[in-house]
Order: sequence, then C-alpha cells, then structure tokens
Amino acid sequence: MTRLPNRGTYYIEVYGCQMNFYDADLLASILDGAGYRPAKVVQEADVILVNTCSVREHAEDRAMGRIRELAGMKKEHPGVRLVVCGCMAQRMGGEMLRLIPGINVVVGTDGYRDLPELLRRSETARIVETSVCAQEIYSQLVPRYDGGICAFVGVMRGCDNRCSYCIVPQLRGRARSRPLEDIVREVSGLVDRGCRQVTFLGQNVNLFGDGQNRFADLLRKTNEISHLWRIRFISSHPRNMDEEILVAMTESAKVCEHLHLPLQSGSNKILRAMRRGYTTQEYRSIVLRARELMPGLSITTDLIAGFPGETKDDFQETIKLMRELEFDDAFTFQYSARPGTEAAMMSDQVPLDERHRRLEQLIALQLEITKKINSRQAGRTIEILVERQSRRKTKELMGRTRNHKVVIFPGDAKLVGRLVHVKVKSVRGKTAWGEIISDDQEGIDRGAAYRRGVCLSTS
Ligand code: SAM
Ligand code: SF4
Ligand code: F3S
Repeated sequence: MTRLPNRGTYYIEVYGCQMNFYDADLLASILDGAGYRPAKVVQEADVILVNTCSVREHAEDRAMGRIRELAGMKKEHPGVRLVVCGCMAQRMGGEMLRLIPGINVVVGTDGYRDLPELLRRSETARIVETSVCAQEIYSQLVPRYDGGICAFVGVMRGCDNRCSYCIVPQLRGRARSRPLEDIVREVSGLVDRGCRQVTFLGQNVNLFGDGQNRFADLLRKTNEISHLWRIRFISSHPRNMDEEILVAMTESAKVCEHLHLPLQSGSNKILRAMRRGYTTQEYRSIVLRARELMPGLSITTDLIAGFPGETKDDFQETIKLMRELEFDDAFTFQYSARPGTEAAMMSDQVPLDERHRRLEQLIALQLEITKKINSRQAGRTIEILVERQSRRKTKELMGRTRNHKVVIFPGDAKLVGRLVHVKVKSVRGKTAWGEIISDDQEGIDRGAAYRRGVCLSTS
C-alpha cells in the first residue's frame, strides 16, 4: 500500500442545500486522497474550508459573517489556510479576496479536483479558481461516507431551467447527469458499508438522463440493489413530473411515497413571471394523479413570498391552493433579489416588510396543516426505518415513515438500520411518538408483504 504524505488536517463547514453537503463529502474525499486528514474540530485544522450558498442574500450574509470570524481566528494561527468554495465562491471570485484579506483560496463549484494543487500554490500566493467546466460531474470519485444509515447521492449537477428569481443556473452551469452505472456502483458501495437509504440529488432530478437511461430507469435499476431498503429523491420539477416517473415509483417497492414538488406560487400570473413552465391547474393534476397512484403519499413543497409584482390577491391564491392541496410540509422563503437574475431587474419589487408579513402567514398556515395531517398518524402501525439513536435520550430511537415523517420510540441501538413496525401513540407538533410492535424484519427485500407499506393497519 502506498503511504500518503502527511499534509496536515482539514475541517469543512457547510452552508446551503443538500448538494453542498454532498460536495463537502467529495471535497473530503479529494483531500483524503492527497494525504490530508480530517480534524475533529475547526480549531485543530490546518486547512479550513467553508462551502457557501448564494441562493438568498441571508445565506450569503451568514457565510460572510462566519468567514470573517474564521479569518479573525487566523491572526493567532497564521499558518492556517482558509478556503472558500461553493456557490458564493463561484459568484464572487476574486472579490472575496478583496473583501476578506485572510482568505487564501477561492474555488468554484467545478474546480474541486484541483484543490490539492491549489493548496500547494497557496503557500506562496492567494488563489482564485472559478473556471466553469461544463462536463465536470466528478465521476470516478467516491465521496466520503460517514457510516450513517442514510446517504445523499448526487445524480446530476447544474440546471437548465431559468426561473427568473434563481441564481443557481449561473453558478452551477448546465445540467449534466452521471452515467447510471456510476450511480449504481456508488449506491452498491454505500450499501456494502451499511447504508440502507439513499436520496438522489439534483436541481431537477426528473430530467436525469445519461443518453441511454432516464430517471424512471434510475429508480428501477437501483430498486434492484439488495440490502438497500429505501430510495428517495429531491427535487422534482412540476414541469417534468410525468406518468412514466410516477409509474416507476409505484412499481419500485423501495422508492418511498414522498414527493418534494416545489410550487413556488399559487398564482398563474406569478408562475408565468417566475418562468416556472406550469400552471396551477397542471400542478394540481400532478398532485391528484400522484395521490391516486400512491395512497399515503406525502407531498412537500417550496413557496416564495413577495415575488416582484405579487399583489395581495396573488398571495391569497397561494393561501387558497395551500388549503386545497394540503401539503405535508413546506419550505417557505421570503423573495430575495439575486444579482444578475431577471426578477431582480423587475420594477414592482414588494416592500421588505410586506414580504416578511406574507412569509409569516405561509409559515403559520403550513404549521396548522402539517399538524392536522400528522395527527392522523395516531393509532396507526407504520413501517419505520430506524435512522439513529434520538438526541434526547440514549434509550430512544429516531426513524422515519416511508412518507418521510419523524417518529421517536424506545428501543435498543442495535435496531439502527433495521425496518421495524411502530404503533404511533401520540403526535406532538411535527413529531410522532410510538412503540415498537415488531422488529423482526431485515428489510423489504424479504417480500411483497412490505410493499406499499405506508400504513399497515389503522386500528
Ligand atoms: N431546483 C429546485 C426547484 O426548482 O425546485 C430548487 C432549488 S433552490 C436551491 C431551493 C428553493 O429556494 C427554491 O425552490 C425556491 O423556493 C427558493 N429560492 C430560490 N431562489 C430564491 C430567491 N431568489 N428568493 C427566495 N427564494 C428562492
Ligand atoms: Fe433554480 Fe429553477 Fe433551476 Fe430550481 S429549477 S435550481 S429554482 S432555476
Ligand atoms: Fe445549493 Fe445554495 Fe448553491 S441552495 S446550489 S448551495 S446557491
């Protein structure tokens, strides 16, 4: 075995979406391969990386605050190198070096392969690398895996949509998919090491395509992997959510009954201005069809409050559609103007305080709906994948239903990674509490009895 040179330790802090967390594992794997070792805490690291997000101004402000703090820490440890990567690095490039003198390297989302070389060069100079590489999918790299029951697997990078408010396509480039065999290899490798659930990641996974296979093929193929219990994916785009995908979901026993289907607005006028490419009528049809095919399906969404031109009536249409469709949960955001996007140039920006008021209304309504839906779990016996010990008490376990709801119950740590049946006793807020009814299953590989097992009994 070749001994790697000891290049010191690294620590990665992550902001933003799941894609950034997945990228952090890629960065870790690249650094491990070059002879760096992970540090347990940031104070012990020779190289500190901050993986940043630009999706909203608030995300950038938080990251900037933290980078400044870390740059301040460097005054006592001048040998430490500070690396800014991710979407903000891609957006701001050399501007970051000007704003924060303590930064040594700025590296954009397509430049991670060269990180060891950039670090070497940073011994004598400050470095910016934000070139765009339209083909980069980081194939042949195996991201770091922390041994958990659940893992993210990036299946695509970039986005070909041009939602008028969104900065992501500018920063992540054109959509490109990994070859299906690479993904199957990665998932099989994770399962061999103890992982039991994968979540496929992409800005619009419905458009996955490697030239020969589409998203439905990816679901069917990975469904065949033994000892993998569950498959999830985010995000779906309503414009590209078709019957082929819904049918593949229903026919693939491991694919869970959960769709994250961002709506953004309940007003057709606003959806048009957002360039989302669907109407509320089309969105409603997908929801109805998906619920018809998959009883027990949960649907979560993203909503933006106060997009430019959104009148009080437009906003009420969103409220009305939320009440009608009853999402299981929603990620709600106050519209944030992003530099260089079409929406940022629109003249009729909604005042900040009004955006905030509308956001509060979305949050309150969604909480009411979520509580109402989740309370229906009481008394049911539900199949749970045990994800980990609960953070509250060691004798308690935390798991999720197939439709992505959290359930806490007493149990032994040896059940982590197993499928068990839990009877829900009570639901408080968003969390259900229950007790194990049976823990003898190894997984749905054992047979069709567990298929479509969202709710096995209502008594
Ligand atoms: N690709 C995914 C999709 O289209 O469904 C979403 C990716 S984006 C990282 C996550 C969410 O952030 C979006 O669905 C949207 O609701 C929100 N978002 C994006 N840009 C925003 C902006 N400028 N202001 C507020 N929210 C924004
Ligand atoms: Fe942004 Fe739209 Fe692409 Fe999602 S689909 S990443 S919201 S441009
Ligand atoms: Fe994700 Fe933020 Fe980039 S949401 S894709 S890390 S801008």
